[in-house]
Amino acid sequence: MSNPYPSFVQIDAASGEVSPFTGRYKKHLSDLEGIFHDRTAWSDAVRDLADPVVYEVVEYRQDGCDLFFGTTIIAPGQVGPEYYMTRGHFHLRRDRGEVYSTMKGQGILLLESRSGQTEVVDMREGYVASIPPDWAHRTINTGEGPLIFSWVCSVDAGNDYASIRERGMRKLVVERDGQVAVIDNPRMG
Ligand code: PA5
Ligand code: MN
Repeated sequence: MSNPYPSFVQIDAASGEVSPFTGRYKKHLSDLEGIFHDRTAWSDAVRDLADPVVYEVVEYRQDGCDLFFGTTIIAPGQVGPEYYMTRGHFHLRRDRGEVYSTMKGQGILLLESRSGQTEVVDMREGYVASIPPDWAHRTINTGEGPLIFSWVCSVDAGNDYASIRERGMRKLVVERDGQVAVIDNPRMG
């Protein structure tokens, strides 16, 4: 990669597109095995909905910069009562936080400390959240359209997915009686 300074990057708030970008990936529902609480609803949805894209990440890295940034675009949808969401992760480096800025849509940023403390942070246009170092973070789209946020992180933060994949997070975000509800994860007793 060789991107000379000064750099200028555009982020389109309506679509989340980053131009130019240096990397991107999509997560389909089939990539998210074990993430949603209702495993049967998940496999039924993979089959019945032809394995939709749940979210896309687009990023921009600049040579020689200790930070990188990008966007995450989460589609609206549910697996059973649970809203579409990201995998969630801790950073490998325990001294690295992150900043999320919501550009479009509505959702929840779920934070969880190593000791199991939980914070539920509102995501809506113009809201900016600081993710403290060593807190797991997952974003959930509770709205009817896409949830789009930009993020800025240290290039050396690294992502630890295994801890969340293996034990889940303590809270689930679900639709209950037509409302968004944050409930205890029954698997975590
Ligand atoms: O750096 C971040 O925390 C974000 O860019 C996330 O990686 C992104 O939202 C996708 O989530 P996850 O990495 O948990 O699948
Ligand atoms: Mn992160």
